Amino acid sequence: MLGKNFQAFLLFSFFLYAVPCYSLPLKTQGRWLVDERTGERVKLHCANWPAHVFPMLAEGLDKQPLPFIASEIVKNNYNCIRFTFSIHMFTRYANLTIEESFDRLNLKKAKAGVIKHNPFVLKMTVPQAYEAVVDVLGSYGLMIDADNHISEPIWCCSNDDGNGFPNDPHFDPEEWIEGLKMVAQRFKGKTQLISIGLRNEPRGKNQNATLWFDHYIMEAAAQVHQANPDVLVIASGLNFATDLTYFKSHSLKSNFDNKLIFEGHSYSWGGKGNPWVDGSVNKACADKIGSLNNNLAFVTDGENAVPLFFSEFGIDRKQMPARDDRFLSCFSTWAAEKDLDWGLWALQGSYYLRENVTNMEEYFGVLEIDWDRVKNPEVERRLGLLKQTLLDPKSTAPLSYIMYHPQSGACVGEGMDGQIRAGNCKGLTRWTHNGHEGPLELRRTGLCLKAIGDGLPPILTPDCSQTTWKPISASKLHLASKDHKGEYLCLHLEPPFAGNIVTKKCICVGDDPTCKDNPTSQWFKLVETNIEN
Ligand SMILES: *[C@@H]1O[C@H](CO)[C@@H](O)[C@H](O)[C@H]1NC(C)=O
Ligand SMILES: *[C@@H]1O[C@H](CO)[C@@H](O)[C@H](O)[C@H]1NC(C)=O
Ligand SMILES: *[C@@H]1O[C@H](CO)[C@@H](O)[C@H](O)[C@H]1NC(C)=O
Repeated sequence: MLGKNFQAFLLFSFFLYAVPCYSLPLKTQGRWLVDERTGERVKLHCANWPAHVFPMLAEGLDKQPLPFIASEIVKNNYNCIRFTFSIHMFTRYANLTIEESFDRLNLKKAKAGVIKHNPFVLKMTVPQAYEAVVDVLGSYGLMIDADNHISEPIWCCSNDDGNGFPNDPHFDPEEWIEGLKMVAQRFKGKTQLISIGLRNEPRGKNQNATLWFDHYIMEAAAQVHQANPDVLVIASGLNFATDLTYFKSHSLKSNFDNKLIFEGHSYSWGGKGNPWVDGSVNKACADKIGSLNNNLAFVTDGENAVPLFFSEFGIDRKQMPARDDRFLSCFSTWAAEKDLDWGLWALQGSYYLRENVTNMEEYFGVLEIDWDRVKNPEVERRLGLLKQTLLDPKSTAPLSYIMYHPQSGACVGEGMDGQIRAGNCKGLTRWTHNGHEGPLELRRTGLCLKAIGDGLPPILTPDCSQTTWKPISASKLHLASKDHKGEYLCLHLEPPFAGNIVTKKCICVGDDPTCKDNPTSQWFKLVETNIEN
């Protein structure tokens, strides 16, 4: 049972924060997630928050009060949390209190922090504390995906951690399903818990697609669905959530009354070498998008489309290595184009204990190590467009384009002074274009974009027939127009992103694999939308 003060606090926080405009639960409708009652689309833009690691408590409760953390999530326009748990939290440690858990690991300083900022969790058991966080997040209007990250409460994931595939040394399939059922039952009726991720990132030498998708996923999903028919069930791709290609030649045995969705993950690493800095960046991006489509996102196409929740991607925002910077620009254009549901890795600024280090910083975290502010606000700006809904399956409005510059997170439109400018993506100018090669018109103005020279801002002209733009390079992310000499000029915007857009000589748009300059200042994506502003 929750304490009286805790209940009063929940009631209080409920009134302070806006209630979302959709109701829960959700269901699938083709490739979209929709409000089960109204059929309106609900887009997930989530952050991951681990509770599965050694102490089995949501990270950061030693640093800031839970309501403060929840309000930071809302303030930064995330509408949900992928909240990780380990199976043993429910099957083996269900009677362990948080205090005992911290004492067992001798985490004195972290325990003192929890006593200071969130004393109400101390005497709770591990499952009660997990539920308490779900309750508070729900009271802030946030949705929660309960993600089974791993079986043991340890840092995840490697090929040989024994938790990778059913019947690995620490992955008992019976205990796994038992644990999932406990979570499903526990949250029955609490509709803020929208989904249960059946298992994060299956991996390792024992992987077997038939066993995974036709046997284990079907069995786990059936049990969860029976215990709690409201929640979505999430099936991860193989090989660390990068591979759903089984469904190129097989179909789903059941979608559990329109409740089953897939999840996929991607980072700047994986594959051979470091293509983001060792070769052509346009090619690296084309290859990344090609494999994302081929291995994962194809499930969102066609008659039997299923939603793909892209529940992990992220970058090191503390050191901002070039490869992460470029990966993020590339990935953002793809996620915007597909208008995917997604979950960023990660919210947390620190861990109580990870890989034997106490108070370890998370460089990928939205929040600073003390959880008191955003670590890198520029990254939040870059994610801005992805936090908007761009496609509505019910909309009858015609499609138009938003011109998105992923390196800055800006969208391109007409400024007050009639100049072409990069600015806020909300309520901004829409463009029309034939998608291949043709005039780029400021929608419903009869005015078209025209390049007038290297280093000069493009102008708007009513003489549209004399203008033509085409997405070029392997990545198709350069918007280019030929000048009077027949040479391409590309739209270009560089840091500090304050000035006007200009056109410049295109960077590394040819086939030359030795061309290694960074072209991302010239990446502009025409992103389709049917949402009127
Ligand atoms: C927790 O305690 C209850 C009551 O004593 C017991 O029935 C249950 O098996 C215990 N659970 C675990 C996981 O130890
Ligand atoms: C995968 O599992 C199925 C079902 O048990 C089995 O028939 C098949 O041989 C396995 N595949 C591999 C590659 O081990
Ligand atoms: C953590 O410490 C244990 C025990 O000393 C050791 O076996 C293990 O390898 C260490 N793990 C890491 C990631 O350093």
